Amino acid sequence: RFEGIPMAPPDPILGVSEAFRADTNDVKLNLGVGAYRTEELQPYVLNVVKKVYVLSLMAENLMLERGDNKEYLPIEGLAAFNKATAELLLGADNPAIKEQRVATVQGLSGTGSLRLGAALIERYFPGSKVLISAPTWGNHKNIFNDARVPWSEYRYYDPRTVGLDFEGMIEDIKAAPEGTFVLLHGCAHNPTGIDPTPEQWEKIADVIQQKNHIPFFDVAYQGFASGSLDEDAASVRLFVARGMEVLVAQSYSKNLGLYAERIGAMNVISSSSESATRVKSQLKRLARPMYSNPPVHGARIVANVVGTPVLFDEWKAEMEMMAGRIKNVRQKLYDSISSKDKSGKDWSFILKQIGMFSYTGLNKNQSDNMTNKWHVYMTKDGRISLAGLSLAKCEYLADAIIDSYHN
Ligand code: LMR
Repeated sequence: RFEGIPMAPPDPILGVSEAFRADTNDVKLNLGVGAYRTEELQPYVLNVVKKVYVLSLMAENLMLERGDNKEYLPIEGLAAFNKATAELLLGADNPAIKEQRVATVQGLSGTGSLRLGAALIERYFPGSKVLISAPTWGNHKNIFNDARVPWSEYRYYDPRTVGLDFEGMIEDIKAAPEGTFVLLHGCAHNPTGIDPTPEQWEKIADVIQQKNHIPFFDVAYQGFASGSLDEDAASVRLFVARGMEVLVAQSYSKNLGLYAERIGAMNVISSSSESATRVKSQLKRLARPMYSNPPVHGARIVANVVGTPVLFDEWKAEMEMMAGRIKNVRQKLYDSISSKDKSGKDWSFILKQIGMFSYTGLNKNQSDNMTNKWHVYMTKDGRISLAGLSLAKCEYLADAIIDSYHN
């Protein structure tokens, strides 16, 4: 009977890393997955993470005295983590936190947290739709499909300007039936790297509020886009400050480099503490049959880094360093392309985009050329991860892009 199961296609993002590993040419470059690399193109373990790890090993006795152990976490996760993550997102003095209107449940990084939010929608808002930006992160559609939540797209990217189609976005959000969930990227939109301006965020909030829609934020890059945790959470905080009910999925994969620890959270900001308590009880009920309870290691790292002032400061400095390195390669890539390309094409969009990615505008065939001819691995939607690029490789990448673009 298993004979009848067909082969699944490779994942559009993680499958790129598999193809990269199989390539034996030395010039190869992996710009597929959004994972931070050093200038030497090596994975990076943050110093604060190493310190927490070493401290926790040295302080084994202390940890045991403090009561740390390997028992199951509660279904909702580590209390110290949940408190830290909500405060990091909203600001510790946010009235929603003070009024206990935030239901936070530890999740399996961004994907697991989104999946939990999707399960909540499926169970308590049957028939409700989620509006997703066109384009969006490749996994969003899978997540809502598997949770059996219907979705459709709102316009976001304008290929003519390689910028935001703000009018289209507003029109589509307006046209959706009342009570639609609107999936928004908190900062550093994946894959385009194009974010609304603060004024545009206000207008988006106006329309969502008028239409009684429910914003659902995916915050996977807090601190990684601008280098500032508060600045990168401004979009979410603006909606919460208006008293709206908001869903927010968080991930610590990128900003703390905890990719493999699967640490994140699902936050539901409700209108009363009573409803937050009920929502939390239901999130736990949904989590229990899916994965029972979350793993503890990443949660302890986050709670320790955020809860120890000297480590918290060091983390912020490391995020600035990572965001800064990406800005440097962004500038160098732009300089290299614009000095080499004699066609007169305006490449300034590279500089306007923010975060880990650049959306090059290369189509599928051109992206194939990047890989087949130049050994540059990237997703077929034309996205390149600048976090996987070094200054030394910018000239090579510029040649590859120009060749593929005019191909
Ligand atoms: C990406 O978009 O490359 C990352 O978020 C990794 C992933 O899980 O797809």
